[in-house]
Amino acid sequence: MKKIRVWDLPLRLFHWTLVILIAVSIVSQKIGGNAMSLHFYAGYAALSLVLFRIVWGFIGPRTARFSDFVAGPTRVIAYLRGTDGSAVRTYLGHNPLGSWSVLALLTIVLSQALSGLFANDDIASEGPMVKFVSKELSDRITWFHKDVSGNLIYFFIGLHLAAVAWYFFRKRQNLVLPMFTGDQVADHAVEGGSHAAVSAINDSWRVRLLAAATLTFCGGFVYWVVHLK
Ligand code: HEM
Ligand code: HEM
Repeated sequence: MKKIRVWDLPLRLFHWTLVILIAVSIVSQKIGGNAMSLHFYAGYAALSLVLFRIVWGFIGPRTARFSDFVAGPTRVIAYLRGTDGSAVRTYLGHNPLGSWSVLALLTIVLSQALSGLFANDDIASEGPMVKFVSKELSDRITWFHKDVSGNLIYFFIGLHLAAVAWYFFRKRQNLVLPMFTGDQVADHAVEGGSHAAVSAINDSWRVRLLAAATLTFCGGFVYWVVHLK
């Protein structure tokens, strides 16, 4: 059984930290009151992570790059019909349909965190950007944060988990383990984007250092935005 590195450590840490932060955001806003400050901090951290992931989509290792995995409708349809050979081979990294789910999840978390910056609860909590917009606009964005983006995020997470379960039970493919270990079994594999020769990604400490620097930059940017006067 041949194992091959498909997810770099920064990407895996990004994923599981994001899961924890979204859970904290949801639970803390349900508790309300003083827990709202936790909601804010978790939201800032989630925003930093998504910004990091967007940059990583350009400078990260191969399977993290948008140019490698984002697929057009033709490839997604071929994947769904099974005419791309995926019935007998496994994709290394994101498959064409999975690439759309990555984009959807990143967009919804970004939209939720950005709208949160302008949201208010009409009592004690308001995002750091509220002071820059009218009360009317802040109320509209709060509605978006709660009723539009706030519902869609549940929908997309539900879909995401259903897809992971479907691969596990119907296709006998465990996608979760590689998100922890970084390695995928590559006996019948093709690469996500190019269908070229099967090779491991670069998950060296240099790459990890670059990720740490990128995350620091993104976190610093969010800190700066949150403290704008
Ligand atoms: C990605 C991170 C975030 C998630 C998943 C999230 C999720 C939610 C949800 C589900 C609600 C409540 C909806 C409801 O009551 O039905 C909410 C409310 C709220 N959020 Fe967020 N949020 C995030 C980030 C933020 C950020 C960064 C801020 C501000 C800095 C913020 C500020 C607020 C405020 C003020 C409310 C209260 C609105 C009210 O109760 O009237 N959120 N959030
Ligand atoms: C708050 C909830 C979650 C969010 C927002 C989320 C978001 C994401 C994102 C953005 C990716 C793309 C990874 C990348 O390339 O950067 C991803 C992939 C993945 N997630 Fe999640 N995730 C969530 C929960 C979970 C949970 C609970 C599981 C496990 C049961 C899970 C399993 C996976 C797997 C296996 C992949 C890789 C899929 C593939 O092989 O193409 N996710 N998730």
